[in-house]
Amino acid sequence: MRRPFIAGNWKMTQDRRSAVALAEGVSRQAAGLSGVDVAVCPPSCYLDAVATVLANGPVGLGAQNMYHEPNGAFTGELSAAMLLDLGCRYVILGHSERRHILGETDADVNKKVLAALAAGLTPIVCLGETLPEREAGKTLDVIRTQFSGSLAGLGAAEFQKIVIAYEPVWAIGTGKTATPEQAEEVHADLRRIMAECYTAPVAESVRIQYGGSVKPDNAADLLSQPNIDGALVGGASLKVDAFMGIVVHAVG
Ligand code: 13P
Repeated sequence: MRRPFIAGNWKMTQDRRSAVALAEGVSRQAAGLSGVDVAVCPPSCYLDAVATVLANGPVGLGAQNMYHEPNGAFTGELSAAMLLDLGCRYVILGHSERRHILGETDADVNKKVLAALAAGLTPIVCLGETLPEREAGKTLDVIRTQFSGSLAGLGAAEFQKIVIAYEPVWAIGTGKTATPEQAEEVHADLRRIMAECYTAPVAESVRIQYGGSVKPDNAADLLSQPNIDGALVGGASLKVDAFMGIVVHAVG
């Protein structure tokens, strides 16, 4: 059984005070929940403050990005070891905003995934098609290419440590959620690709989150799909009640 996993991607929002308050609210409301993993991914400048709030509680901490090199002259970058040192367990890699706005390639994402795993972080690896790609019937091709490029060189044991997030670019921050059927179709395709590349039991063990305008009122339908194992939440993760309104739908 795959344990549901709901993560909040706060993107480039919050100030120190609101980040601490949001983390306190999530931590308080997540206490006592069982059968679900919950994490928040604040901007890197607030990881330390949020880690203090989350310490010894049920909510995991994740970063939104990292660099693949272990240390050195890479101005502005953070290594996997630094994120671990700050208390992170997770790191989002290959988010579509990094791919499309900041020009990250599958090869870049792949180096980061390997470095994150080597350091002991759990990568949340994002994949997803744009609207023109979907309309051209290329969704499966795009997913396959991103999957094989971003996850090249992972043995089965390493692969089983990652989380995949399917985030159709056209559904991110637009209010246009993929229907549960549209999302499930891609998740099932991903599960098949995983089984082809590894084995069926390996494919069955890896969690696939859906991301893209997940809200409390659509979370139940999305999370009830057999291959949707959680959510990567943007806008709705910025309010405690909205985020926890999603988390409750994942509790078994
Ligand atoms: P929204 O939930 O705001 O659409 O963002 C999704 C996302 O990009 C999470 O990583």
